[in-house]
Amino acid sequence: MPHSTAHNQPAPAPSSVGAATLKIDDRTMELPIVEGTESERAIDISKLRQETGHITVDPAYGNTGSCNSAITFIDGEKGILRYRGVPIEQLAERSTFIETAWLLIYGQFPTRKQLSSFSGLLTTHQMLHEGLRNHFDGFPNTAHPMAILSSMINAVSCYHQDVMDMEDDETFESAAARLLSKTRTIAAAAYKASIGRPIIYPRPDLNYCQNFLHMMFSLPYSEHEPNPDVVDALQLFLILHADHEQNCSTSTVRMVGSSGANLFASCSAGVCALWGPLHGGANVAVIQMLHEIHDQKITMKEYVQRVKKREVKLMGFGHRVYKNYDPRAKILKGAADKVLATLKVHDPMLDLARELEETALEDSYFKDRNLYPNVDFYSGIILRAMGIPVNMFTVMFAIGRMPGWIAHWREQWLDTASRIARPRQVYTGQTLRDYVPMDQRG
Ligand code: CMC
Repeated sequence: MPHSTAHNQPAPAPSSVGAATLKIDDRTMELPIVEGTESERAIDISKLRQETGHITVDPAYGNTGSCNSAITFIDGEKGILRYRGVPIEQLAERSTFIETAWLLIYGQFPTRKQLSSFSGLLTTHQMLHEGLRNHFDGFPNTAHPMAILSSMINAVSCYHQDVMDMEDDETFESAAARLLSKTRTIAAAAYKASIGRPIIYPRPDLNYCQNFLHMMFSLPYSEHEPNPDVVDALQLFLILHADHEQNCSTSTVRMVGSSGANLFASCSAGVCALWGPLHGGANVAVIQMLHEIHDQKITMKEYVQRVKKREVKLMGFGHRVYKNYDPRAKILKGAADKVLATLKVHDPMLDLARELEETALEDSYFKDRNLYPNVDFYSGIILRAMGIPVNMFTVMFAIGRMPGWIAHWREQWLDTASRIARPRQVYTGQTLRDYVPMDQRG
């Protein structure tokens, strides 16, 4: 564990505000009620099994708080999202991805000196070890870039073994910078590998977003000069994806990290969790859905009927926490118009998406269930306009989410009271029975 400094504290414990009484048969038990800084209340059941022999059941953890966290606040009913207390709208308008990353990881806005020193570390660590670069040759051209990203993030720890025994905040900072920086380099290299083109080295004179676009689109004989409007759109996209409290991939990172696994192993697992179509993979599924509607000339009413008959899901709609418009989707919807106009791109998918949203939001199925567009509904349209291929969309989400994963891994690492995450179950299988020899089996 690292030494404690002002920026080096685990999440504070919530306040104790009362107790709930639980009655089981003829026994009663007092369960503490705790309250977070935004008045969210929770019943602390950590002593329940020890005192009553019972556990709680909460499939998919819809009602379970797995930790105390001081990183991101969401009010799903009001559609509020804040990183370290700062509204997402302000960060989207005024911050950069790297400043936001620092804010998420360390809880404070960086000073000019801290930001410059962190940016310097990102530049120092942006290259891949030549041995690592050779790994790309081992993947088939058809490999999915998410599979490559996850494998390669894990492989980085083979070349930088110091990331496995972090002891203080300085070694943590260097590992975090290495992970943020190399993720971007690996992501672009995964794309180049998937199209059979040479991998492009990063340039020390470019900032984080410019460098990514350079590595994606330059060729050995033709340097790509990133368009400032595309750089701004990328910056916005990454900021909006940077954290989202205890979602599936972040919970995975914390779960893996809780066993003492290193930052790279934990975040590599996060990439795998993000890949699924119900999570980060939804940004690909949305574009596929819009293509299907476009190519098969399906009307919006027809598509909504198919959703209501449960033949398909409306991808990019709905959220476990938001029961109101996802604030990230609101920003991206506005940005899509602007980005496409600035880049002089006309994409019929944007018109279709708007029409589909309008039709769905007028329908009682969506109204009754509070289903609104989420972050993935409009993001793919912006990525397409920037020239990012569809199979890279979820990789883009992973680059964006990396600061959140790092911040959560660190918050847990700093918490000396943290224990290995280990849910229980209600066993519903066979009761005791004997081994059956082969010749007696039917
Ligand atoms: N299309 C149609 N019906 C839906 C949808 C949808 N996209 N989302 C939820 N519902 C229905 C669901 O069938 C259920 O109806 P009923 O109560 O009649 O059975 C009700 O709404 C509640 O949904 P749920 O399945 O209990 O919600 P959940 O919290 O378990 O799942 C979700 C959340 C995001 C996985 C889900 O809304 C979904 O599958 N959406 C589409 C995939 C998607 O866009 N994922 C991106 C999420 S945001 C970014 C991220 O986390 O990566």
